[in-house]
Amino acid sequence: MSSPSVPIDLQCERLCKAFGSHQAVCDVTFEIPRGSFFSILGPSGCGKTTLLRMLAGFLEPDAGDIRIKSRSMLGVPPNKRPLNMVFQHLALFPMMSVGDNIGYGLRRRGVGADEIRRRVADVLERVGLPGAGAKRIEQLSGGQKQRIALARCLVLEPAVLLLDEPLGALDLKLREQMKIELKQLQQTFGTTFVYITHDQSEAMVMSDRVAVMNHGRFEQVGTPQALYDAPLTPFVAGFVGDSNCIDGHLAGGSQGQCIVTAQGLDLAVVLAGASPVRAGDAVEVFVRPESIEVARGVHDMASDNQLIATVETVLFDGANSRIEVCGRTNRLDLLVRLPQTHEFADLRRGDIVSLGWMSGQTQCFAARRREDGGNP
Ligand SMILES: Nc1ncnc2c1ncn2[C@@H]1O[C@H](COP(=O)(O)OP(=O)(O)O)[C@@H](O)[C@H]1O
Ligand SMILES: [Mg+2]
Repeated sequence: MSSPSVPIDLQCERLCKAFGSHQAVCDVTFEIPRGSFFSILGPSGCGKTTLLRMLAGFLEPDAGDIRIKSRSMLGVPPNKRPLNMVFQHLALFPMMSVGDNIGYGLRRRGVGADEIRRRVADVLERVGLPGAGAKRIEQLSGGQKQRIALARCLVLEPAVLLLDEPLGALDLKLREQMKIELKQLQQTFGTTFVYITHDQSEAMVMSDRVAVMNHGRFEQVGTPQALYDAPLTPFVAGFVGDSNCIDGHLAGGSQGQCIVTAQGLDLAVVLAGASPVRAGDAVEVFVRPESIEVARGVHDMASDNQLIATVETVLFDGANSRIEVCGRTNRLDLLVRLPQTHEFADLRRGDIVSLGWMSGQTQCFAARRREDGGNP
């Protein structure tokens, strides 16, 4: 939770919005301390844009309240809210110069010409494009256009900047670079960012805190590390970072350490999440590829979960290389991080490996129903 000394810039309380019978945003509550980078992460269609449009004032909530700097925004029109929005398509004016694009909002507010010139030059400097004011938009690269779109908002000094998948249209390489730039710009300006994305790596890299959204609800709000290490729901466990999901049934135990049978194996697991699980219930067990230790050949792995497996595929990707394996005496398929040591340099399909992982590195949840996005 936020420390009491940092004021809250944006607060939402039990926000709801339905389209006909479809509940697009459902009982969403959160608060964002001043100057922080907050992301809303969820799959396409989960309600992210609907939520953002309510924050911006383009859409009236059915219920709930939105407060910016403690003031309710209900009934306040978009242009009277102390926030700004960056869209995926950027919405720059192609026929105007960079300087005129950035100064547009200031002109509309009736700011004097000298002051506009000074503030435009200042913001161009801060986004790393000093002296670019006279350039035309079409002379800029994709990354530079992104920075101008941001500069055009930041020059107005909003309390909150809303960003709706602003990197969605960029190619992978530029997206990787812009992730880092956006985070740096947010820190330079100290503006509160609300960033929407379906890309978990964007959210993880940039954010102070992330809300994971599914079917209109926030399933969990936390630091990237907390979401990664201690997911509270199977959806979060599966959506944030890569994880193996093993379907099984709870055999015994009810608190903390339990045994799950899956594909004829007994797995030692740790129960996570809030929903109660009883012996015989269907469960989902998550274990991350990097939590699994691997050795070549047949060995005792000194872990409470062990498996002898055959390599099915080697997915070479430098330091992120992984293998897909299948249990020798069962059909348990796992994705395993490949250690970057000489021992594995010539590992091939068909080779035998020993795997081990500790129960403490697993998370076991009651199985989701099919419509929750769970495994059938
Ligand atoms: N104006 C609208 N009228 C009817 N349904 C809508 C409207 N806007 C969004 N929806 C529906 O609400 C759900 C959430 O949409 P949206 O907020 O755009 O999701 P996201 O941005 O997470 O992809 C979707 O099922 C979408 O079809
Ligand atoms: Mg959207």
